[in-house]
Amino acid sequence: MIIAVDGPAASGKGTIARALAQHYGLPHLDTGLLYRAVACNVQRMELNPAKEADAVAACDFDEALLDDPVLRTDDIGQLASIVSAHPLVRASLLQRQKRFARQPGGAVLDGRDIGTVIAPDADAKLFVKATTQVRAQRRHRELLGKGFDVSFVKVQMDIRARDARDTARSSAPLSMAADAALLDTSQMTIEASIARAIQLVEARCGAL
Ligand code: DC
Repeated sequence: MIIAVDGPAASGKGTIARALAQHYGLPHLDTGLLYRAVACNVQRMELNPAKEADAVAACDFDEALLDDPVLRTDDIGQLASIVSAHPLVRASLLQRQKRFARQPGGAVLDGRDIGTVIAPDADAKLFVKATTQVRAQRRHRELLGKGFDVSFVKVQMDIRARDARDTARSSAPLSMAADAALLDTSQMTIEASIARAIQLVEARCGAL
């Protein structure tokens, strides 16, 4: 069984995808981490993220980088959004994601283009969304909790900029697959969002 979970930054898609993977005993891939690793490599190699050739040169990253907590920072998230708009960067990460989706037994993948490009034949597709206000509040709380002194307005502006870039790019933009189920988590707790996600998967695939 392949489960595709897409949605914008801080929508809750990562938490939901991890919970689904645990619930069904499936391996999980956070595809945003791959773009974040490229972004981090661009920064370390002092390359220009806006230049496609530079970003492509950073695609051959060390696997150990995927476990580095620096990938989770908002700065790397913004840079990841920039490098991910280059078609050749997307092409270089494509097969790895498709292979992960096709492994025997199935998988859960989360990102922006899983239901549309990486696994268009997924058994269940979820598109997770929440209002910009709610997503900014969640991200702001999370950053304060980690000890980062950042203003709410800055977090909100960053989320807006990332949404605009991820949605407007011509190569595999963030969009809801026609056959995806919509899950709006704006008014939901994490537990309620996970329970609803399981219901939606089972409505699609039958009880597992
Ligand atoms: O999900 P995330 O915040 O870790 O993703 C970081 C950036 O990577 C996001 O702003 C856009 C890009 N991304 C993408 O283009 N396609 C994906 N499948 C996942 C992430």
